[in-house]
Amino acid sequence: MSDIKKIKDDYLGKLSCELNLDEVNQIKIELFGKNGLISNSFKELGSVQSEDRKKFASDLNFIKDELQEKINSKIQEIEINEINSKLKNEKIDVTLPERDINQGKIHPVSQVIDEISSIFSEIGFSVEEGPDVENQHYNFTALNTPDNHPARDMHDTFYLDDKKELLLRTHTSPVQVRTMLKSKPPFKIIAPGRTYRSDSDQTHSPMFHQVEGLHIDKDINMGHLKGCLNYFIKEFFEVDKIQMRFRPSHFPFTEPSAEVDIGYELKDGKIVIGEGDKWLEILGCGMVHPNVLKNVNVNPDKYQGYAFGIGIDRLGMLKYGINDLRAFFDTDYRWLNHFGFDPLDVPSNYRGLSR
Ligand code: DAH
Repeated sequence: MSDIKKIKDDYLGKLSCELNLDEVNQIKIELFGKNGLISNSFKELGSVQSEDRKKFASDLNFIKDELQEKINSKIQEIEINEINSKLKNEKIDVTLPERDINQGKIHPVSQVIDEISSIFSEIGFSVEEGPDVENQHYNFTALNTPDNHPARDMHDTFYLDDKKELLLRTHTSPVQVRTMLKSKPPFKIIAPGRTYRSDSDQTHSPMFHQVEGLHIDKDINMGHLKGCLNYFIKEFFEVDKIQMRFRPSHFPFTEPSAEVDIGYELKDGKIVIGEGDKWLEILGCGMVHPNVLKNVNVNPDKYQGYAFGIGIDRLGMLKYGINDLRAFFDTDYRWLNHFGFDPLDVPSNYRGLSR
């Protein structure tokens, strides 16, 4: 009995000193662990003489409870002290300037692709995609571009093998071929994406973006092409009126072919689209050549339609006043912060296409 009384007095003494959580846990182990002092005392119970055993057991239980209670209240005390000292030391200074949040921006090219897709989807175009690595057949041959055509020139095209079979697509037009091969007419699609040519200066980059358009049905004519482009340009530049002219041109995959210019004027050094007497070339287009239709198993005596190809980066530069194309692809964070778009700031002509 005197032993357990001594244990009690010793440990109550220890527990009334200033302790941290680890020290209290250590005490807990010393008393109640597998070989703890109290645990061992319980094991001794059997060797105590029978007349003393009842009292010993009751004293031991009493001491055990008392020590356990003391330990619990000590732990509680330490936790409360910790919270109080945190509250005291970690005061929030509401006068401090807010922290800089590095919020990402949407790249102007992604923004413009979204705007274009949303405008065309409004008039029934769906969006198609094709691979950046194309074969020469889809990029040239199926598009009625003969072997000796200058567009196939090594100087312009990035070929990926010696046989000139694989290449980085030089335009989005091969998506026309892929789309028509995989289903049946009518077709009404746009295809935005990356394109590649061996070119680099202030207005050319070896990688750039185009959007292809294709509308094939039984009675689609050039009037539809004109109406569609007129609608698109007005919507894209957010103007009511637009001056537009078709200049005769040549593309192997269209007949007749045209390039489209839009009217603009310079106001305080800025390009204003829609008014004025200056012209700016923005796209190539035409009626899809019968040979192209034949190449994709569409009967040109039954079906006809138009196609167009627009330079996306150019449109973005015009709309958002960016004058060096190369900056688009320099990955300069400051530039992106300035010209990029807030993901939550929805443009007025945006109609809710998912990003
Ligand atoms: N693929 C042409 C280019 O990259 C642009 C183009 C012109 C696309 C006329 C067309 C088209 O679909 O009909 O210069």
